[in-house]
Amino acid sequence: MAGSDKLVAAARKAREHAVADFSGFKVGAALETGSGEIITGCNVENATYGLTVCAERVAIFKALSEGKRSFARIAVVADTQDPTPPCGACRQIIWEFCGDIDVVIANLTEIKLTMRMKDLLPLPFDKRLL
Ligand code: THU
Repeated sequence: MAGSDKLVAAARKAREHAVADFSGFKVGAALETGSGEIITGCNVENATYGLTVCAERVAIFKALSEGKRSFARIAVVADTQDPTPPCGACRQIIWEFCGDIDVVIANLTEIKLTMRMKDLLPLPFDKRLL
């Protein structure tokens, strides 16, 4: 398992690639696979605003598209004092594709909070209900 520092460092680096021309709010994410690989993502905004994709979903979709199916943790980094947690849409996607993993929330200098997905998304809707 990659160290927290390595995962958070990867998310900080990914954040530098954020395409956040409209909000100016840059976010980086780093997803650790079951075998310790790290896949990163950043938020990508566009002129319609509504088609924005968050850093977490970019990282997850990249990983899925490369055939990864087992995940251990995700780190999310924004330049804020208060923790920046995944939005509702990302919670759903993290839950469905990564399950009850640790979500490490950090800023540019420190880890602010680590939470399990089951606590970030209580009573989830998922394939067990279909
Ligand atoms: N954003 C993320 O990428 N991840 C989060 O966890 C929170 C929000 C992005 C979406 C948008 O590009 C910008 O931050 C402001 O909402």
